[in-house]
Parts: sequence; C-alpha cells; structure tokens
Amino acid sequence: MFDMNALRDWRFSIDNQGIAWAVFDREGESQNSLGRRPLEELAMIIERAEQGARDKSIRGLVFISGKEKGFIVGADVREFEGLTDERQVIDSIGQVNGYLDRLERLSIPVIACIHGFCLGGGLELALACHWRIATRDEATRIGFPEVRLGLFPGFNGTVRSIRQAGALAAMPLMLTGAFIRATAARGTGLIDQLAPSPLNLPWMARKAIQRNKRSKPMGGWRALARMWPARGLLANKFRSETAKKVREEHYPAPFRLIDLFETHVGNLDGMKWAETRAFAPLMVGETAKNLRRVFQLSEMMKAQAPKGLPFKPVRVHVIGAGVMGADIAGWCVASGMEVSLQDVSTEQITNGIAAQKKLFARKFRAKSRREAAMARLIADPKGVHISRADVVIEAIVEKLEVKQNLFKSIEGKLKPGAVLATNTSSIMIEDIAAPLADPGRLIGIHFFNPVAQLPLVEVIRGAQTREEEVGKGCTFVTAIDKFPLIVKSSPGFLVNRVLAPYMMGAMQRLERGELKEKIDEAARAFGMPMGPIELADTVGLDVCAHVGRILKMAPSGPNKLEEMVAAGKLGKKSGEGFYVWKDGKPEKAEPATPFDKFELERLGRELVDSLIREADKVREEKVVESADLVDAGVIFGTGFAPFRGGPLYFEAHEEKSNVAPLRRTAAE
Ligand code: NAI
Repeated sequence: MFDMNALRDWRFSIDNQGIAWAVFDREGESQNSLGRRPLEELAMIIERAEQGARDKSIRGLVFISGKEKGFIVGADVREFEGLTDERQVIDSIGQVNGYLDRLERLSIPVIACIHGFCLGGGLELALACHWRIATRDEATRIGFPEVRLGLFPGFNGTVRSIRQAGALAAMPLMLTGAFIRATAARGTGLIDQLAPSPLNLPWMARKAIQRNKRSKPMGGWRALARMWPARGLLANKFRSETAKKVREEHYPAPFRLIDLFETHVGNLDGMKWAETRAFAPLMVGETAKNLRRVFQLSEMMKAQAPKGLPFKPVRVHVIGAGVMGADIAGWCVASGMEVSLQDVSTEQITNGIAAQKKLFARKFRAKSRREAAMARLIADPKGVHISRADVVIEAIVEKLEVKQNLFKSIEGKLKPGAVLATNTSSIMIEDIAAPLADPGRLIGIHFFNPVAQLPLVEVIRGAQTREEEVGKGCTFVTAIDKFPLIVKSSPGFLVNRVLAPYMMGAMQRLERGELKEKIDEAARAFGMPMGPIELADTVGLDVCAHVGRILKMAPSGPNKLEEMVAAGKLGKKSGEGFYVWKDGKPEKAEPATPFDKFELERLGRELVDSLIREADKVREEKVVESADLVDAGVIFGTGFAPFRGGPLYFEAHEEKSNVAPLRRTAAE
C-alpha cells in the first residue's frame, strides 16, 4: 500500500530496532520548506507510522533534516500566490492541520531533531511532535517569522506554542518574529532537550524513544482559560507594546493574533479553528501580499550576485576610519572577514576600532567570539595589508582630488583580481577612476549610515567599469549579509536621489509655516519609519545640504537649512537641528489639538509624491535595471513603507490601497 521509495522530498526508513526515520531533504532545493508536495508526502509518512504503531512494527518516529543548513525554514512562500480566496486558504490549511493532529495523536513517541533554522511551519511541525531535541549550535534558531509576512502561525502554532510555553513566552515570539537560540527556547519549554552537536541527534532521539519521552506543556493552558480578567490585561499589554512599533491599519496581523489569544486561549479546539478563520483574510489581504513582494524583492537582490564566480572574499582593507570607514570595517569583521583599517590619523583608527566593541557585544554572546572578532580587526596606519586584501574600500573625505591621489598611489599594490571600491556618496565613479591605469576596475560600494542598521548597499557601475567587477562587488556585499543593488553612476545614485526631493519638499513646507511635528506625523501615517524632518536631523543637516547642492535641489536664497548648518546646528550629532535632541531622541511638542487623521493621511501622501515621481524618473533613465529593483532599493535603502510594496508598485495599485490617491492637476 505504501511505496515509501516513491517519496521525493523525504527519505523514510525503519531500522532494526523498529525506529522510523523521516529525513526531510527537499529535492532540488538547498533548504527545506513546507510546500505542497513535502506536505502530501508528510501525510503518507504519518499514515505509515499509524499503521506501524497499530501492528507494532514501528515503536517510534523521528523527524530530522537531510540538509546541512537547517531543519525547516518555514512554509514555501513561493506557493502562497496560488491562494487567492479565503475559502481556498481555509481548506488547504485545514488539511495540513488535520495531518498535524494525527501526528500528535500517534501512540508511539514522535521526536523532532533540530539543527539550524527551525522556523514558522517547521516549528509548528516540531510542536506537534512529542519531544524536541535541538543542538546548542550558534546556527540553531527557533522562531515564528510569519508576522514579517503580514501573517501569524497558521498550522495551529499559535495554540501549540502558547500551550507549550505559556503566553508570556510564546506571544512576544509570534508578535515580533524574533529568532531565539536553542538554549533560550529550552528555557521557555519550546525545546525539551539540548544536544551538543548535530552528530549526537540520532543517538539522543533513539534514547528518547526507548524512554518514551513526552514533553510536559508549561503554558498553564487551563489556568489561562479560567483567568479571563488577567487574560484581558495581558492582551491589552500586548496591544500597547505592539502599537509602539506598528499601526494596526498598516499591519493588522499582530492585532488579530492578540484578539485570537484574548477570546479563545484555553479552549483547544475552539482556538485551533478560530486561528484558521482569522488567518485566511490576512493571507489574501493587501499587507501580506505586499510583504511577500518585499520578501521576493530581497531574494531578487541577492540573486544579483553571479553564481559560480571564482571569487571568495575573506580579507578586506578599509581606508578612512571616520564615521563610515570604521563601521564598514566593524561590519565586515562581524560577518567573519579579516579587516585591516588605514587612516592618516592613528587616533581615528584607535577610536574607530574601539567603537566596534558595541557591535561585537551585540553580535556575539561568547567572550571568545568577541575576542576573536577584535583580533580580526587590524590597525594598519601604513596600509601594509593592501596587497593581501580581496576587497579594498576607500571611505576618506569627499574630495575628488584627494580620492584620485589615493587611488593612484594604491593601484600598483593591489593583489590581482582584488575588488577596488569607493564609498563616495556624491562623486561620479568615472571622475575618481579617470587617472587610474585601469579605470575599468573601480566600482562604488555605497553603504548607508548607520552601517549596521541599513540592509542596502548600492554597487555602483561607472561608464567604464567592467561587468566582472560589478559581479564581484555584489558577491562581496552578499557575503557580508547585505542586499546589493546595482546602480548606474549618476548624481545621487538611487537612494539619495529619491530622498532629496522628498526631504527638501518637507523643508519647504516648514519654511511656509507647517509644523515639523505635523509633517513627521503625516509621513508616519503613510507608513514611513520616521518623518522627513526627523530624518534630516538624523542624517545630519550638513550632509543634507551637501546632497541638495550636488543634486541642485537645495533651496535658493536664505533658508533655515543653510542657517542652521552655518550656526553649527547639524541635527542629532550636534544635539540640535530642527529638533532639540535628548538621549538620542528628538523632543517633539504636543499639538494644542490632535492632528486630524484624514488631514495627516492627505499630507502624508503629498509628501511622498515627490519621492515616487523621482523613483519613476530613475526607472525611465534605467539607473537601476528594473522597476522591481527600484522598489527594492527604495524600500531597503529608505525604509519606504514595506506594506505598500514599494513606490512604483504603490503608485500602480493606488486605487486599491487605503490611501486616497493624489489627484494631480493638468498643469502638473
Ligand atoms: P569622515 O570625515 O568621518 O572620515 C574620513 C576619514 O578619512 C578621516 O578619519 C580622515 O582622517 C581620513 N582620511 C582623509 N584623507 C585620508 C587619506 N588620504 N588617507 C587615509 N585616510 C584619510 O567621513 P565619512 O562621513 O566617514 O565619509 C567618508 C566617505 O563616505 C565619503 O566619501 C562620504 O561621501 C561617504 N559616505 C558618508 C556617509 C555619511 O553619512 N557620513 C554615508 C555614505 C557615504
């Protein structure tokens, strides 16, 4: 009846002790995700195990991954597009939930062996098992990332995680989409046992079956059902915490999850069914659709790094240890590279290296790893390490002649095949490359400030730059875990070019007497992470004025921006700009009467209009290869409301969105 040899995404075998091994190894994929076929095959495995439990030929079932990279990364997002109406979603999810219920009801012990990523649907499968063993390894990460795709767990993970770990541990995990390590997951009860390494997993699973191990839920499920007043208080706390980060009208999923918790927790079957009912409208809704698009755009950016290139960057040399250079060096080290840092000032090098301690403390828990990172960051005032570097990045003062002289002086010292790059934000690559013997070698690798926070890096192609160098640049950017975007060398590249008219437009409104608090609030109402005036203060008003001049967008005549720069009021970094800054936060005045919601929405839409129009021009001029990549660059480089799918996508679909479209007059 069962032809288990026909399975394509799983390998199934029963050993001589009667233990069934279900090894997940998705055909043709580097990672395991739960798509239609793996789930159908999972159903066959469960059926086979049910039969084996009945006739006593199987005494335990173990789920383990056949991939080096991890257990299961979640459901297969690529297949979500096929689900377009709620009924369809309810039916297909209902089927999977039926499989998992049967798995949970098996009379034989069912063990999940976890190493690497165990996320979303993968964690939901693991939670339906009776005992979960995970490796202590750094690579092992447990979490529910669904909220990042505008959803919450839909394979009854809301129910099982709360029952297993309690609301205080499980809800924040689902509400934030954070990934935790196996040791932390063990503390919450989501994981039952820790393994020193993946090699120990099979043996430990065998022992768990021999001892008939069953996890004990720690969630106080029944108590949660009885304590409805406490449940309401808890739900309100989750609501207010979530509202500090996102707005319900933009990101409904976390709020629907809190409603689900408040109404149904403690009622096992009721909550399972309610989860599916609440999940379906989110799945077919605009926010989830647009966030899936953002996910696909991020994959598209990574795909810009050519496959099979014989270039493996390991050593980086950074010249200039100022604001950008030191942080670029630190980020590369944190991504595993060995970095030498050069500057004309040894003091800058010392301070720049010391400043990276904070980043390493955030990235590495173990002292030994922090120390190893510090040891990989080498002070190199004379630039003796240039000749060993695979990538050389210049981040010195923004002056053409100084940059040209530097590049001329180092060109002869480079290792053959090494990438040569500038972090310039405003000078044409062709101009910097002009005096080089091989100008086709130079590319721009343009990071954004703060380096550790912004995921986008523009890889700039000059008129003479060789394609191979651009490809190597993208490979490097991907290797340090950032998203590369290939941009043609032109004023402002992509990000600064679209931001400039948006920010300058906001400043003009300020000149005309609009309140800065209102402007910023309106941009946030549209979905921007921060308003344009606060952003100008954060970037630095001197930098804004400089970019404005380069792009010929700076206001002419006397204006507040120039006045403030002249007075040394540079924004956050000097403690005062348009706002006064205290403890890293702008002091905002409360309006005498609250701003009108519709007025804010109208103003927000007007503010982003100049950004959208500039993005359109960038597409027309082919500064970036495609409209999708323009959207990707603007989302990841400026934080443009991800749930709107990008500026060009938003414009094309505006009639369907919840924002009143801007009616342009014929004169415009
Ligand atoms: P910075 O003024 O903080 O640092 C420049 C460093 O270069 C200083 O430490 C200086 O001592 C050193 N330096 C100057 N001439 C040198 C030479 N010939 N050899 C070695 N070191 C030399 O400047 P920042 O802000 O870090 O900018 C550096 C580059 O990054 C510029 O091209 C800028 O346009 C670009 N950039 C800046 C951003 C920002 O937000 N500050 C954002 C993106 C790019």
